[in-house]
Amino acid sequence: MEQQTQQQMPQATQPTQESILQHLDFSEMLNRMPLRRIQEIVGKDAFQEFLLSLPEQTAEELLFDWRSWARPQQLEPPGDNWSIWLYLAGRGSGKTRTGAEWIKEREAKGDARFIALVSQSAADARDVMVEGESGILSVYSENKRPKYEPSKRRLTWKSGAVATIYTAEDPDQLRGPSHDTAWIDEPAAYRNVMDLWSNLMFGLRLGDSKCFASTTPRAIPFIEHVQIVARHIA
Ligand SMILES: Nc1ncnc2c1ncn2[C@@H]1O[C@H](COP(=O)(O)OP(=O)(O)OP(=O)(O)O)[C@@H](O)[C@H]1O
Ligand SMILES: [Mg+2]
Repeated sequence: MEQQTQQQMPQATQPTQESILQHLDFSEMLNRMPLRRIQEIVGKDAFQEFLLSLPEQTAEELLFDWRSWARPQQLEPPGDNWSIWLYLAGRGSGKTRTGAEWIKEREAKGDARFIALVSQSAADARDVMVEGESGILSVYSENKRPKYEPSKRRLTWKSGAVATIYTAEDPDQLRGPSHDTAWIDEPAAYRNVMDLWSNLMFGLRLGDSKCFASTTPRAIPFIEHVQIVARHIA
């Protein structure tokens, strides 16, 4: 009897990704969930195709809407009762992108006017934090990017906000200047990081100053120290 029923049933065909995509209503999805979730569901290629089908400006707005892409731990901690945000995460998990987007948001709010960008070397700062695939220039559309002057180790926004690049190779450059915002990328990998860190902390004294430290975890005294002083650890 059971066998007979099975024979009469039409064969169910396995849905392909293409057939699923045909039935998805992207606009409905955009109203219901963050872009990150949509891309996870439909896949990168289909999402790209969808973006290409949109007017250029709309596609650009979606691509650069960080609040809709970020995982919760990639967004600035709420409240003002913190001054150091330590982001400890593995390789390729989005640390640098989080730093670049945080600088962008803070500059847009007017909270970042004097910014310190700290890296192992000038080449690292340029290749990762500024020009890298998830560096500061990458999080802006071309016409909104800050002006980058490598020879001056400087980025300047139209608002007048300025970011200066400092390196672990010359920690003394951080003695003197004051900042309201600092982003230090991969400090656990620097030599003499404690000197550099104390210079950076000493200069972080303008207004409601804040520091974002993004790094791959390592069992070293520096990380233990920052874990103690940072109010917020993601
Ligand atoms: N929430 C996100 N949505 C979409 N893309 C993301 C997100 N977070 C990070 N990415 C992308 O993932 C890639 C890796 O990110 P990123 O370079 O920031 O990682 P990382 O942790 O700094 O890597 P590394 O360990 O190599 O320094 C980049 O292309 C970045 O733009
Ligand atoms: Mg990185």
